[in-house]
Amino acid sequence: MHKRFLFVGVSILFLGVFLYSCESDLTMPEALETASIAGTTFMPASPQREGDPEKGKDILLNGNYIGSGIPIEIYKAVYGDHTENALNRSGENANIAPDFTAFTHQNGAHVVSANCLQCHGSYLNGEYIIGLGNINIDFTVSQNATVKVVDVIIENKHGKDSAEWEAYEPFSKASTAISNWILTKTVGANPADRIFGVLAAYRDKNTLEWNDQLSFNEISDYTEFTDVPPWWVLKKKHAPLYTGTGGGDWAKLFMAASTLTLKNSEEANAIDEDFVHVMAYLKTIEAPKYPYQINEELVQMGQHIFKANCAGCHGTYGENESYPNLLVDLSVVDTDPEQSKAVTNESTQGRFIEWFNSSWFANDEPAGELLKTSGYIAQPLDGIWASAPYLHNGSVPTLYELLKSSERQTYWRRTAEHVYDEVNVGWTYNEETGYTDRFTYDTTQKGYGNGGHTFGDGLNEADRIALIEYLKTL
Ligand code: HEC
Ligand code: HEC
Repeated sequence: MHKRFLFVGVSILFLGVFLYSCESDLTMPEALETASIAGTTFMPASPQREGDPEKGKDILLNGNYIGSGIPIEIYKAVYGDHTENALNRSGENANIAPDFTAFTHQNGAHVVSANCLQCHGSYLNGEYIIGLGNINIDFTVSQNATVKVVDVIIENKHGKDSAEWEAYEPFSKASTAISNWILTKTVGANPADRIFGVLAAYRDKNTLEWNDQLSFNEISDYTEFTDVPPWWVLKKKHAPLYTGTGGGDWAKLFMAASTLTLKNSEEANAIDEDFVHVMAYLKTIEAPKYPYQINEELVQMGQHIFKANCAGCHGTYGENESYPNLLVDLSVVDTDPEQSKAVTNESTQGRFIEWFNSSWFANDEPAGELLKTSGYIAQPLDGIWASAPYLHNGSVPTLYELLKSSERQTYWRRTAEHVYDEVNVGWTYNEETGYTDRFTYDTTQKGYGNGGHTFGDGLNEADRIALIEYLKTL
């Protein structure tokens, strides 16, 4: 990456000339605004239920939508007290980590379960941000052994006839069933889609009750995975998920996380009512502001470059912002195809989509629906400075590399401390010549490729740097 610093010096010299020649017209050319871009498909909106965002936030942070967990004293023995209370929660939740929730099970047991923020919350520059994907979550190691240890601890302390065991057992059973199917090759690679696919294979599609017998004929070997999109872009999207597969009613789609420990469809009905409010809250979350210095002159110049090269797919920002909601064909974006292929293949995800679309989640109005799309959504870029690594598979650690594909590394290893890279915009990392350990991102693995999205390659260095400066302001 050292080459980069040389370029910056040289390109600053040219800036004056560029600024002068770009002064004319800040509005987007009509042609770009209205033209449909070849190889893209407009995703129409589906109607959503109205909810109460404040209520939704309370449910998200304090509610019992997971339904099963470990006894609170055992949680505390393992994790200790977490006194920071980043989410300003009250009661027992004031002393536990943001990505866990304490609640009282129907049978009276006091338990703690993981919540949505396990994957959808993160610290950035010391601040906890709800909705920022967790790039430290580790699915490279099977949790089977850990679950077995916890089983023994709870059995010894409370016995198998206890309320505590009853409150814990669904979690143990589901975790054990999925743990060997969801292993990824690098920390941060998130197999959420795969998790729901495997869980569905264990559940009756109408009653949602757990079957020990798998209902799909097979579970494919390849573990589908993605990065985690930030929640603050959801409000602009018509079709959530990187592949734009999220159709129909969103509360039905995103409550699917509850299939980890859900008892039956009756319980699902209650969670569905709560999730209407959770979805309303998610649509109020705003992107965090770039906290470091910004060069305003470069931003002006970068805005022109963005409008000419990027806005047609990613929309416009600031006053009168617009977002075109486009799904882009693989032949155009040319990024790693595996996640898109998994949607339509005879893969676990493909089977999950069929299961979902004829299950409790889709049987009643308003129905959830997963669409068999092909390609990837051109994401809204609000707060893009904060959500590295980039692309649907998180294969590109900085915006600089995203916009100059020849600089992308075959192997890169995240630094132990997540140090923000203000120059290249994203995360610092070490270049490697091969796979060292689970912190190495190895782009030669199936699904982990970092090619494609070459739309920044044709820019000269000065334009690219100005464009990156502009992206910091979104
Ligand atoms: C195991 C990690 C994990 C958990 C737990 C999890 N999610 Fe997600 N979530 C993901 C990943 C990964 C994606 C992206 C999947 C894709 O695009 O294919 C995602 C996508 C989403 C999206 C779509 C965002 C967008 O812009 O397209 C929403 C909304 C969402 N999750 C809500 C939730 C809610 C609400 C919960 C808790 C009930 C939850 N998630 C629990 C990992 C998780
Ligand atoms: C033809 C449409 C198209 C054009 C033009 C385009 N992009 Fe994209 N962009 C996409 C698609 C599709 C993705 C998602 C690809 C994936 O995840 O595999 C994407 C992804 C991105 C991402 C990563 C988003 C994330 O959440 O990880 C950034 C940043 C980005 N584009 C910036 C730009 C910039 C800057 C330009 C202009 C130089 C540009 N794009 C031009 C379609 C486009």
